[in-house]
Amino acid sequence: MTTSTGTTTFTDLYGRAPEGEWAAPGRVNLIGEHTDYNLGFALPIALPQAVRIQAARRTDGLLRVWSAQGGGEVTELRVADLAPGAVPGWAAYPAAVVWALRDAGHEVGGADIRLDSDVPSGAGLSSSAALECAVAVAFNDLYGLGLAAPELALLAQRAENAFVGVPCGNMDQMASMCCRPGAALFLDSRDLSTRQVPVDLAAADLTLLVLDTRVKHDLGDGAYAALRAGCERAAALLGLPALRALDAADLPAALPRLPSELRPLVRHVVGENARVEEAVAHLDAGDPAALGPILTAGHASLRDDYQVSCPETDLAVEAALAAGAYGARMTGGGFGGSVIALVDTAAADRVAAAVTEAFRAAGYTAPRTLTAVPAEGARRLG
Ligand code: GLA
Repeated sequence: MTTSTGTTTFTDLYGRAPEGEWAAPGRVNLIGEHTDYNLGFALPIALPQAVRIQAARRTDGLLRVWSAQGGGEVTELRVADLAPGAVPGWAAYPAAVVWALRDAGHEVGGADIRLDSDVPSGAGLSSSAALECAVAVAFNDLYGLGLAAPELALLAQRAENAFVGVPCGNMDQMASMCCRPGAALFLDSRDLSTRQVPVDLAAADLTLLVLDTRVKHDLGDGAYAALRAGCERAAALLGLPALRALDAADLPAALPRLPSELRPLVRHVVGENARVEEAVAHLDAGDPAALGPILTAGHASLRDDYQVSCPETDLAVEAALAAGAYGARMTGGGFGGSVIALVDTAAADRVAAAVTEAFRAAGYTAPRTLTAVPAEGARRLG
């Protein structure tokens, strides 16, 4: 009960067997960054890395949670007392989902929960959304709620917005809930409509590298909220419901109507939505290598206009490109986190080594390298 390794079983913790086991993955976004809260497009894939949850209902109104990554103790909470801001640390995420379900009128009670995750945390790979979605999909089954995947994703997003206090959009939760193996999720954040776009990198001898810069990204520090507020102010000044409604053709006329500090934000969002549509067209045409220049252009826009890059992500992109990547960009919210690089499979080790060497020469902590293969969204395992 006091060990922090993954060897402590559900039965060790709670003295009985779980009623089921579920998993929800982390994600990388191919393109479409900081577009979701502007009601635009994104194109994430699910990672094989996931949060696994075992759970069993309780009838006494207690929520007991334990995580193999959480430091050893079972955290015990009273479901009826859950309130935004009331739960510190990682336990806030499972608590938030239970709160959001009940706040939306769903009759859920307590549970015993065991969590284990191999999604790197703080790496911009949506470990928080994976945790929320794992709890959401487990409670949906345990309490027979019958909610569809997009509804669960929205509840998980609300949990993070209202309970944890991070004003994120819906991309991470939609990716974790709705992605399918072998496909990218073409997400329209305005109406939550999705299309599975086949991505067969292996057939094109391509590999998608994920280079975690080890710079801890943290969206809770206010910068993300400020960017979101800037976008919403720009949309209001233009008389639009959201920046999604601004067409690329109308951008030149719109920019002079905005204060200078908001113009780069708007330029990024409009350009990024167009890049998602362009990327989808290349994937539909069976040409994934053509994504390369789109990824690199997306990075330049995040670095220069949106200003959410950092020296480590910029260096990873430059080193990957210099070593022959078709394209590279930071993925996720920014301020650190991970870079993706699209490379020939035969060159993958060389590109990863070149980035590692560039980091060594710059005096940065060595990056961690993963390979992203489009994996399955949230699901029941047993
Ligand atoms: C974070 C947020 C998402 C999205 C991305 C940027 O991952 O959680 O909602 O805004 O940043 O695209």
